[in-house]
Amino acid sequence: MLALLFCGVSIALPPFVRADACKDIRMYKETPSAGQPFAFNCINLSPTSGKVHVTWYKYPGKSPISTNAQSRIHQEQNWILFLPLTQEDTGIYQCVINYTNTCHRIHVNLTVLRKYWYCFSGNSQLILSDEYKQILHAGKDDSLTCHLNFPQSCVLDSITWYKDCKEIKGGRFTRWRIKLSVSNVSAEDGGDYACQAQLTHTGKRYTILNSITVNITETHGYAGRIPKIIYPKNNSIEVQPGTTLTVDCNITDTRDNTNLRSWRVNDTLVDDYYNESKRIREGFESHISFQKHIFYTVNITFSEVKMEDYGHPFICHAGVSAAYFILKLPAPDVQAYLIGGLVTLIGAAVSVTYIYNIFKIDIVLWYRSAFLSTEIKEDGKLYDAYVLYPKPQREIQSHEVDTLVLKILPEVLERQCGYKLFIFGRDEFPGQAVANVIDENIKLCRRLIIIIVPEFLSFDLLKNMSEEQIAVYNALIQDGMKVILIELEKVKDYTAMPESIQYIKQKHGAIQWSGDFTEQSQCAKTKFWKKVRYHMPPKRPPPSSSTQMLKHTY
Ligand SMILES: *[C@@H]1O[C@H](CO)[C@@H](O)[C@H](O)[C@H]1NC(C)=O
Ligand SMILES: *[C@@H]1O[C@H](CO)[C@@H](O)[C@H](O)[C@H]1NC(C)=O
Ligand SMILES: *[C@@H]1O[C@H](CO)[C@@H](O)[C@H](O)[C@H]1NC(C)=O
Ligand SMILES: *[C@@H]1O[C@H](CO)[C@@H](O)[C@H](O)[C@H]1NC(C)=O
Ligand SMILES: *[C@@H]1O[C@H](CO)[C@@H](O)[C@H](O)[C@H]1NC(C)=O
Ligand SMILES: *[C@@H]1O[C@H](CO)[C@@H](O)[C@H](O)[C@H]1NC(C)=O
Ligand SMILES: *[C@@H]1O[C@H](CO)[C@@H](O)[C@H](O)[C@H]1NC(C)=O
Ligand SMILES: *[C@@H]1O[C@H](CO)[C@@H](O)[C@H](O)[C@H]1NC(C)=O
Ligand SMILES: *[C@@H]1O[C@H](CO)[C@@H](O)[C@H](O)[C@H]1NC(C)=O
Repeated sequence: MLALLFCGVSIALPPFVRADACKDIRMYKETPSAGQPFAFNCINLSPTSGKVHVTWYKYPGKSPISTNAQSRIHQEQNWILFLPLTQEDTGIYQCVINYTNTCHRIHVNLTVLRKYWYCFSGNSQLILSDEYKQILHAGKDDSLTCHLNFPQSCVLDSITWYKDCKEIKGGRFTRWRIKLSVSNVSAEDGGDYACQAQLTHTGKRYTILNSITVNITETHGYAGRIPKIIYPKNNSIEVQPGTTLTVDCNITDTRDNTNLRSWRVNDTLVDDYYNESKRIREGFESHISFQKHIFYTVNITFSEVKMEDYGHPFICHAGVSAAYFILKLPAPDVQAYLIGGLVTLIGAAVSVTYIYNIFKIDIVLWYRSAFLSTEIKEDGKLYDAYVLYPKPQREIQSHEVDTLVLKILPEVLERQCGYKLFIFGRDEFPGQAVANVIDENIKLCRRLIIIIVPEFLSFDLLKNMSEEQIAVYNALIQDGMKVILIELEKVKDYTAMPESIQYIKQKHGAIQWSGDFTEQSQCAKTKFWKKVRYHMPPKRPPPSSSTQMLKHTY
């Protein structure tokens, strides 16, 4: 803003002001009326600028103007205030601006006029005031401005407008803060206007009167003066309900336009529309002056956005121009939804897989018992499993294997579960050749159960099983016959085992025996037996008489 100020039109300064280190930058001419308050702002700075020292002097005096607020003439922030102005105040006032290492000076040539207000004073002497001049544009909506530039410590109220000494009320005229809006301006609107306001400062009240001479101009050539609304642009704004929102209306307008700028909703000024709740308010207008135009900003603030605000245009008006914004609910974040959905899906899949893995066996066993055998096709096989087991050399182990194979397996799988097993050493007909028994019966089985005993396994298994036997089950494994490997004890090192066993272990895994070797304690519902049953084929309906016959023919 400082820079803008320096860009301002410089007036040639008389030699007497060219003095010390301060640079003279501008001379202003002011001709206010005696008997009423007057204020002048040396520099329009935002409070954040900081480090700027402004001092007012009355030329040629060397002592600064008082800063005592009770004093008739005093400095307040960057302002000089006259409360009120007297004829004797006429003179040159200097404002010294110290800004870091630079110093600038502004001069104000103040000429206090004695004015007679024939309407108010009752004085017959009529002096037509040339205090202010403003223009209204015929055929358009336009406005007049009451010149009330005072620091914030001055409270202004009761602004009243007069035309040719008569108070203006209603009709095409609307009072709006320091402005008077005139709709559909016609030639008869020209004339002498006045605006009156009350000013209160440190408890004292003063009356201010502006006289404004208004000329009407035709609208031709008006196009160049149409205010330009830079923002909003009839756009939508995404906002969450409940939040605070401030939207600027940024406008550029020519210097001599006195357009009214305001926010409206449903064709009503927002301050009037929300006069009760004050939830949505129009901010005070601020402006920055440029050589040929003025940049105005007036904001609208929603202290809390509500659902009813969505979808209705909030319109910024600047003279004949208008532009709006519409509030929109934020679009749901599609990407977040997608990722969320995907994560949920993966999570669900993972947990389902996890749960399935935990309860897989129970689920399958339950399913089998619930939908028993309806879909099972006849496969021409006679047995559910062929049990292959070694004969360990140690007494204890040998006994354990025998108990498991000849007592516990039949008890659980045959008696409790209704499977049919072929156990070598129990089910072959006497006198049959070993090779034949294995060869023929193994083909009639749906599963192959191999019991393995660690430690001695590598040679035991080989020792107790004929080459043919191994050859046969190798072939069967290659045919895709399912193998159930039961470890009597945990096998630490499979590399010592025959390759076929290693292969089976890798492909089908192994079930480790758990439990003791007492026949009574065996129950098909223990974890171990459930695992075995899970690997066994589904149970079949009672064999037909033909297969029964077949068995007896063997
Ligand atoms: C402002 O700057 C001028 C020149 O640098 C100096 O003489 C003067 O004392 C300064 N005034 C203040 C109030 O800082
Ligand atoms: C101040 O303004 C008055 C009248 O407007 C003029 O006569 C006077 O010469 C001006 N003074 C300076 C120093 O420019
Ligand atoms: C504006 O005023 C003129 C007469 O002054 C009238 O003919 C015209 O209808 C008015 N227009 C509107 C929009 O009121
Ligand atoms: C207003 O109109 C009068 C005569 O109609 C003219 O003398 C004067 O210069 C005009 N003022 C402005 C500011 O246009
Ligand atoms: C409006 O102008 C102000 C400067 O006065 C600027 O800070 C703001 O970003 C502008 N807003 C828009 C929406 O252009
Ligand atoms: C708000 O405006 C309505 C209609 O213009 C009016 O009836 C009401 O008295 C106003 N309320 C306040 C607090 O000004
Ligand atoms: C809105 O305008 C007011 C001036 O009326 C100002 O104090 C406030 O900081 C502005 N709000 C925003 C967010 O710019
Ligand atoms: C404007 O008026 C319409 C109809 O009277 C109403 O539905 C809407 O809520 C109003 N707009 C706002 C922002 O209140
Ligand atoms: C925005 O809408 C207003 C009507 O409300 C229209 O006059 C103006 O031309 C529009 N501006 C843009 C940039 O579309």
